[in-house]
Amino acid sequence: MAIRKIVTKEDPILRLKCKTVEKFDEKLWQLLDDMSETLYKAQGVGLAASQVGIRKRVAVIDPGDGLIELINPEIIKKSGKQRDIEGCLSCPDQWGYVVRPSRCTVRAQNRNGEFFEIKLEELGCRAACHEIDHLDGKLFLDLVDEFVELTEEA
Ligand code: NI
Repeated sequence: MAIRKIVTKEDPILRLKCKTVEKFDEKLWQLLDDMSETLYKAQGVGLAASQVGIRKRVAVIDPGDGLIELINPEIIKKSGKQRDIEGCLSCPDQWGYVVRPSRCTVRAQNRNGEFFEIKLEELGCRAACHEIDHLDGKLFLDLVDEFVELTEEA
């Protein structure tokens, strides 16, 4: 496994739509392993492949209860609303309130190409929505209704 470099918001790849994964091979597994290692090192909640310079529909999230690998994910159901502070590993030092659904069902493939559905709520739902936006070339900055200054805690 290896830590990959996270690109920042100036990188044009973050504005491109990512491509559907068709090969579930060792190259994909390596990417997934590297992405989770990179996510944990950066202490983030989620990471999309485009953030490490790979234009593929791959994301990893860990809302606090374990890693979820999402390949070709789609939100097939959503309900409710939550408004909370969100950030992004590609936008260091920028934080703001974003309204998201409070619950969603995501359909995706696992690393072997098998389809599964997962129900997510609160932070998990927020993370899935944020990462799937990345796969469509969208950044949370466009959805912020109020930016906030967060100061480092001593
Ligand atoms: Ni992000």
